[in-house]
Amino acid sequence: MSQRKTGIIVLAAGLGTRMKSALPKVMHPIAGRPMIAHLLANLAELAPDRLVVVIGEEMDSVQRAVTPHATVVQKERLGTGHAVMAARDAMAGFDGDVLVVYGDTPLLSAATLARMLEVRRSAPFPAVVVLGFRPDDPGAYGRLIEGDDGGLDAIVEAKDATTEQQAVGLCNSGVMAIDGSRLFSLLDRVGNDNAKGEYYLTDIVALARADGLPCRIVEGGDAELIGVNSRAELAVAERIVQEQLRDRAMTGGATLIDPASVFLCHDTQLGRDVVIGPSVVFGPGVTIADRVEIRAFCHLEGVSVATGALVGPFARLRPGAAIGEGAHIGNFVEIKNASVENGAKVNHLTYIGDARVGAWANIGAGTITCNYDGYFKSHTDIGVGAFIGSNTSLVAPVKVGDGAIIGAGSVVARDVPDNALALTRGPHAEKNGWARDFRERRAAEKTASSTSRKS
Ligand code: UD1
Ligand code: MG
Repeated sequence: MSQRKTGIIVLAAGLGTRMKSALPKVMHPIAGRPMIAHLLANLAELAPDRLVVVIGEEMDSVQRAVTPHATVVQKERLGTGHAVMAARDAMAGFDGDVLVVYGDTPLLSAATLARMLEVRRSAPFPAVVVLGFRPDDPGAYGRLIEGDDGGLDAIVEAKDATTEQQAVGLCNSGVMAIDGSRLFSLLDRVGNDNAKGEYYLTDIVALARADGLPCRIVEGGDAELIGVNSRAELAVAERIVQEQLRDRAMTGGATLIDPASVFLCHDTQLGRDVVIGPSVVFGPGVTIADRVEIRAFCHLEGVSVATGALVGPFARLRPGAAIGEGAHIGNFVEIKNASVENGAKVNHLTYIGDARVGAWANIGAGTITCNYDGYFKSHTDIGVGAFIGSNTSLVAPVKVGDGAIIGAGSVVARDVPDNALALTRGPHAEKNGWARDFRERRAAEKTASSTSRKS
């Protein structure tokens, strides 16, 4: 490709009214990150020389999400042409090629944009290259009006189109590659005398043609051009991205027993020979090493799981959990901000929070780390090879030494030395025959009271 520079203007000032949300539309997440972040990640592949995002007022969250890229605020929402104009100062002195993309078209690929730039940079060097597509229902999309030479003569908005123009199936996706040395002078001549009373970016095509400049169409596929305007469309985008992520996971050497029920995050890292059971959900920040098995119905977020570990079924690993090599985390176990070191076992009905479980330790069923007193979180340290009996409460801050054994049902609020036995349950009392005597006495009392009521 030539040495011409690439600039990108992302339009994201739209209110997203149809989302019916307090969140700006482009901040709605897909696979665990805002849709604008998906788009920016794809755009980064083009290594643009300049990139500016046009946002609306009070969109601080969008500004933060797109950092370190520049943002400009379009104060009034007077149309796509007006929105691009808002980026004029930010693009000052830039005369390379400018791509205009929409923030709510998150799946647009760098490959498609590169194809557009290639057309823009080849004879006859069109002033504007428009990404066209053929939706099943052209509906409200702008129609691409082709010239006799196969070039693009104009874009007509659906509301302004004649019946004949309405019948055109080739539509404007909204994505354009424009000669940056002409963009703003063309936009200066765009008026708002149309059905919506807006300044249409699309009008620059007819203006360029009037100047005798060629314009061209590049066609793209539907899936990457899906625009997200409603929750239903958000769900469609999520499905497309999930399918891509599942394919990537399986191509990378992971088995997904029921791919359709596994939800991955944009950054989920799976090693080789990982097996993921049905209905497993990954939040952001999960790294799974080789030969790990995650059984059905687990939820993981912000965790690392080392080689050969076994997790689930029905486990919840929360942020800050680090599961060591060959460790076992079983059913109805929750781990938060804790390391479970190599070979340790936490197999049943347990909460481990703000803790270290030493290598090869065995945590009995129903063990709870009492990490929170209503004000502060405290740490529990369980030594290497320690054995915690079932139904133990470890009242943090507390330390159980290496090789120590805690008797079942204990409440441990004091440190336990290495290799000691600690148990806090009351002594076992026994009264022979007491239960039988009790039942006989109570039964007799009941008979006596019902007889006295009848008489
Ligand atoms: C636009 C195109 C239409 C195309 C369609 C594809 C124009 C005039 N029409 O129509 O040909 O088929 O997209 O989806 O361009 N925006 C701003 N500020 C504004 C107006 C819009 O930032 O003042 C942003 C929106 O946030 C959105 C994008 O520009 O990301 C498109 O705006 P929208 O109003 O949806 O344009 P359409 O009417 O759909
Ligand atoms: Mg739209």
